[in-house]
Amino acid sequence: MSHIGSYEDRIRDFSWSIAEKELGFKPGDVINIGWYATDRICRQGKASKIALIHEGFSGVERRYTYNDIRLASNTIGTFLRGLGLKNEDRVCLFMDRIPELYLGFLGILKIGAIAQPLFSAFGDESLLVRLSNAETSAVLTQKKHIFKVRKILDKLPHLKHIIIVDHDGKAPLKEREVAFSLEASNPVEDLECFPAKAESPSVLHYTSGTTGMPKGVQHVHYSLISQYLTAKWVLDLQENDIYWCTADPGWVTGTSYGIIAPFSLGVTQCVLDAGFSTEAWYRFIEKNRISMWYSAPTAIRSLMKGGDEIVKKFDLSSLRHLASVGEPLNSEAVVWSERVFGRPFLDTYWQTETGCIVISNYPGMEVRPGSMGKPFPGITGTILDPSRSEPYPAPGKIGLVGLKFDWPSRMRTYWRNEEAFQKKFRNNWYITGDRARMDKDGYYWFAGRDDDIINTAGHLVSPFEVESALLEHPAVAESAVVSKPDPLNLEVVKAYVTLKPGFAASKDLDLEIMNFIRKKLSPLAMPQEIEFVDSLPKTRSGKIMRRILHAKEWGEEIGDTSTLENE
Ligand code: WTA
Repeated sequence: MSHIGSYEDRIRDFSWSIAEKELGFKPGDVINIGWYATDRICRQGKASKIALIHEGFSGVERRYTYNDIRLASNTIGTFLRGLGLKNEDRVCLFMDRIPELYLGFLGILKIGAIAQPLFSAFGDESLLVRLSNAETSAVLTQKKHIFKVRKILDKLPHLKHIIIVDHDGKAPLKEREVAFSLEASNPVEDLECFPAKAESPSVLHYTSGTTGMPKGVQHVHYSLISQYLTAKWVLDLQENDIYWCTADPGWVTGTSYGIIAPFSLGVTQCVLDAGFSTEAWYRFIEKNRISMWYSAPTAIRSLMKGGDEIVKKFDLSSLRHLASVGEPLNSEAVVWSERVFGRPFLDTYWQTETGCIVISNYPGMEVRPGSMGKPFPGITGTILDPSRSEPYPAPGKIGLVGLKFDWPSRMRTYWRNEEAFQKKFRNNWYITGDRARMDKDGYYWFAGRDDDIINTAGHLVSPFEVESALLEHPAVAESAVVSKPDPLNLEVVKAYVTLKPGFAASKDLDLEIMNFIRKKLSPLAMPQEIEFVDSLPKTRSGKIMRRILHAKEWGEEIGDTSTLENE
């Protein structure tokens, strides 16, 4: 049994007021995440405790105390205010995992603006769609990414400021650009935080949809309550932990559990701004004596591929607790981690829309390898019969994962798209878009997605977005994008393409189209395979049937094709 108590104990008499009390919050009070993650920790006498250990791409390490991150977020917040930015303005973070990404996020929240993090590997098209949908006022970025912003500037009338956080002061600045240097700025001791209320908007994360363009998932400052408590109980973060969340803050794990939760709990966290390598990761754990490690199945599978021997070259005895998120965690990975690290990776399940972990294995609960675990106390889940949108009367069958949408960090709406938000509900259940089975003891077993969204290495890719980008290539007449199985990433993107007259399929064209997508969207969205075909399967009304192509890739039954045009 863990120090947290058993699952059953926790569920009994559960109330989110447990977190409110611990955070000293009462309903109606001001609740600014930026303040909770920095100033409050300093006031608790932890100003000189290390908040962030950052290792850059070149291996240079920087350490920031809680007082340092308090001052740095004040400084950035003050700078943004000086530009005229205010509460509810959307401010995008478009950076690699440099310290300014973490500190800027907190600075944005402190002034009540809405933080809109976007993955720095995004190309200009991905960026354009998300910045124009959010009518973003300012972007914080780096020199190396500025060319992508410049390319789309003419189409972004709302974007007033492009803040370059690593400008050397020498290169000329272009239209709307402004240089900022945290190191060269005078630290701001006092910043009046925006008096955010529970329902004040905080973070806007864009997530992929099946049919339309990406949607902005809108969160509020009150999300802190469940991000804090889930990190404490599921990730088991404790005072002396050295924590490593491997996710990039371009995605929700990297903000909820890579910024908000660890800092509001006052723990020390590490960031490695470098690509994946087995040795580099083990060395990072050894060097920093990491005790809590939150990662993802693709990374774990990559480590498994590295083998057991390499693990023995490092002292990883500091590891105390491991958890995983983003894709199904196969039982082999759980068993493997238990063997080599002496601890199992505990699976956690959630979504950008849920804002925090909703189903998980956690300390004090029997772990069933291959299962996602059980709903967090205070969260009601179910498996719905898809034909009736009602919970199955008994466990055992695969159906839709539904949740009672009532915990603090749930999304409040999709940005300016209440209609899409409402469509997520059936019979008052929030429909996650995932399928699973519940066993008789209440454990959830993931079965797959219930839509066409592709989950590649834990990143959701919208087939619609890739298809739209493909159509912009001069050779492409029509396209259909589906997933195909992959041993490491579980799924990768595959594109079926018909060509315009005058174009012929070739290896060169194949590569050209792949690169076109990589640059426009991102390396994640780039098709790993393009198949040139003469025609695509369509319904009689002309809609492309991805379902048929998907079934072909996965060797599944095609099902009902009675509406097919070219039968
Ligand atoms: C998938 C990431 C299986 C699922 C936090 C979900 C998972 C989507 C798991 C959300 C898991 C997440 N097992 N699948 N433990 N965790 N997923 O919005 O399909 O980037 O709906 O949020 O990832 O991805 P998102």
